[in-house]
Amino acid sequence: MADKYKRDFLKFLLTSPLLAAIGNAQETEDLDPDLKYILELKKLLISDPEEAINIFDLEAVARDKLPPAHYGYMATGVTDEQSQLANREGYRNLKLTARRINDVREVDTSVEIFGRTWPSPLAIAPTSSQKAFHPEGESAVAWAANKYDLLMMLSNFSSTSIEEINEIRGEPVWFQLYARAHLESSLQMLKRAERAGCEVVVLTVDLMGGGRRETLSRFIKRDTRDCVPCHGEERSPYRGRPMLDEIDVDAYIESPRLYDADLLNQIKDVTDMKLVVKGITHPDDAEKCIEHGVDGIVVSNHGGRGQVSARGTIDVLPDITTRVNKRIPVLIDGGIRRGSDIYKALALGADAVAIGRPYLWGLGSFGRPGVEKVIDILSAEFKGVMRQMGTTSIAQISASSVMKNL
Ligand SMILES: Cc1cc2nc3c(=O)[nH]c(=O)nc-3n(C[C@H](O)[C@H](O)[C@H](O)COP(=O)(O)O)c2cc1C
Repeated sequence: MADKYKRDFLKFLLTSPLLAAIGNAQETEDLDPDLKYILELKKLLISDPEEAINIFDLEAVARDKLPPAHYGYMATGVTDEQSQLANREGYRNLKLTARRINDVREVDTSVEIFGRTWPSPLAIAPTSSQKAFHPEGESAVAWAANKYDLLMMLSNFSSTSIEEINEIRGEPVWFQLYARAHLESSLQMLKRAERAGCEVVVLTVDLMGGGRRETLSRFIKRDTRDCVPCHGEERSPYRGRPMLDEIDVDAYIESPRLYDADLLNQIKDVTDMKLVVKGITHPDDAEKCIEHGVDGIVVSNHGGRGQVSARGTIDVLPDITTRVNKRIPVLIDGGIRRGSDIYKALALGADAVAIGRPYLWGLGSFGRPGVEKVIDILSAEFKGVMRQMGTTSIAQISASSVMKNL
């Protein structure tokens, strides 16, 4: 294994707790790690979602089952994966101090956002192209979100339409939009979501282009299948995207990405939907959003898929929540893999947390039951941590319980 990149990426994979069960990672690195990793995972692969002990068990199955190019698309960040790693490191570096002598038999995990009470602070982040991971795609995720009554965001690059998803979810989801300089097409999609009953638009502002998805490129190289039957001769990533059906697709995709303050004003002018901006990592930008009438923000670096060398989102969160000071809801995503991560994010001021890859692991491994298992595991872990910490409601979770490990 000469390639330094590959070694780093394998180290990244080796951080999966699944491998803790295998034993000595040092020894694993002495052999061909790629081969060793796959062999060991195969020994441990589960065949039923109910066997999953943690969400990484589902990641292993998704990795095994999915075509390499599709798994690569799910797993990839940019360049050396440092931003993706930073998201995880941020949580690992935080430790919790528990309070005792409290009655914790009853734990209430509910939160309120925009006047709606959610039974859990766990939300579904928007991810594109979910039929690449399972034929049921976004529908399977919406069924699971319906079952657990979770806040769900749908990407404008989804492989299922907003109308279908709202119906399955049983209520309008939050519609996520990538706006482009060709404003007409961007606003047409927004209007379609509004007609479908959506009350919240999530404007993603953190994908500026230019990010090199090296992990994806490497997985594509390993994929020997013929992609033409699904992706067409032109291999367009925009094929089969129902939200693009009614717009001038060429004008939309050929126009540059544009996320300036004017755009915020223009969106506010054309819709009464609440506007949430996703991709904030600096307190000054949070302030700018509030100045322009934005109703909520998502602290996010796109799961390390856009910007290189980003700080972990949990590391940038406290400065942002301090500045926002409860004026608008603050959500966070990136690297949330454990119930304790949810707890830490709430302690540092987030109103809710969203997951991306974890529910895709569930989807890619077993479809709807896999997604449900991921939600089940994270919810149970979070409830367990609330008990261990002596907290029985979200309001009791405080910053004083979280410390950086020095
Ligand atoms: C396969 C994939 C596709 C994504 N597509 C979108 C998208 O269409 N719109 C968007 O705003 N974010 C998208 N994201 C980013 C997620 O919304 C979220 O910010 C990120 O996955 C959170 O990090 P995590 O995967 O570590 O949980 C995507 C992420 C992944 C993994």
